[in-house]
Amino acid sequence: MAVSMKGKDLVSIHDLSVEETWQILKTTEQMKLRWKSGERDRPLVGKTLGMIFAKPSTRTRVSFEVGVWQLGGYALYMGTGDLQLGRGETIYDTGSVLSRYLDGIMIRTFRHQDVVDLAAAASVPVINGLTDLLHPCQGLTDVYTVYEKLGRLAGVKLVYVGDGNNVAHSLMFAGAKTGMHVVVATPPGREPDPGIVQTARADAALTGARIDLTHNPLEAVEGADVIYTDTWTSMGQEAEREQRVRDLAPYQVNQALMRATGRPGTLFMHCLPAHRGEEVTDEVIDGPNSVVFDQAENRLHTQKAIMALVM
Ligand code: CP
Ligand code: NVA
Repeated sequence: MAVSMKGKDLVSIHDLSVEETWQILKTTEQMKLRWKSGERDRPLVGKTLGMIFAKPSTRTRVSFEVGVWQLGGYALYMGTGDLQLGRGETIYDTGSVLSRYLDGIMIRTFRHQDVVDLAAAASVPVINGLTDLLHPCQGLTDVYTVYEKLGRLAGVKLVYVGDGNNVAHSLMFAGAKTGMHVVVATPPGREPDPGIVQTARADAALTGARIDLTHNPLEAVEGADVIYTDTWTSMGQEAEREQRVRDLAPYQVNQALMRATGRPGTLFMHCLPAHRGEEVTDEVIDGPNSVVFDQAENRLHTQKAIMALVM
């Protein structure tokens, strides 16, 4: 039976129950199918999503904006530099005021706590469009994409190779809620946040999922159903780029790593934007096992599902 999610925030996948997580994935499947078969559902007629961006974006901005439009609503883009927020108006006041105009707020920013505070201040649902800590819309899209490609999630082995930050964190949470085996292979010193790992493992205990960490990518990928990577230099870390490239070079996803799975069909995934020649080679991202553009498309369907459920 459907669980009502009206008014719910999406700050972290951890905050969703297993039922709510599956409801988002199943609604995504229906949204995609119905849109492709020409059905035009418009649950957001008369509703407005405000989108606050403190960082650049291609996929998140376009997929949210187009998604709201496809559902019959209106999307309003707000760069933080254009808001009074950029001149010191508090998050509390901003959230309170925006709630009087909007039916939902999506925010992409640096500090995760700012999204937590905005969600507390706002009386309308707040959707996290990426912080330095988490990227829940991405994580949900990613497990939906795996489900779409493989027809199952329980026991699926997804190996994330690279920098253990926001995208890796949300993948661990999404995998934990859906019974997957998520392995995160990072260089020493670039492991995922220990608090996130602990929480993901507690979630995993409820679904039979497994969360493992390692420093050895070649061993990690053995038998993998999916290899996943992300940029080595996230937004806001540009000053550390040279050091990061040095640390993460042994973690590049290339043909040798794909072959080390010992399986021909291992999928390659990347949240994009990709830095070709760094975290992934052209051969892999353009190769037959890469599903990165389906994954990018699925941001649209997943976020439509989230908005239709919470707004
Ligand atoms: N994957 C993702 O969030 O992409 P953008 O930064 O382009 O939104
Ligand atoms: N880890 C990346 C993800 C971009 C979608 C970043 O934070 O820049």
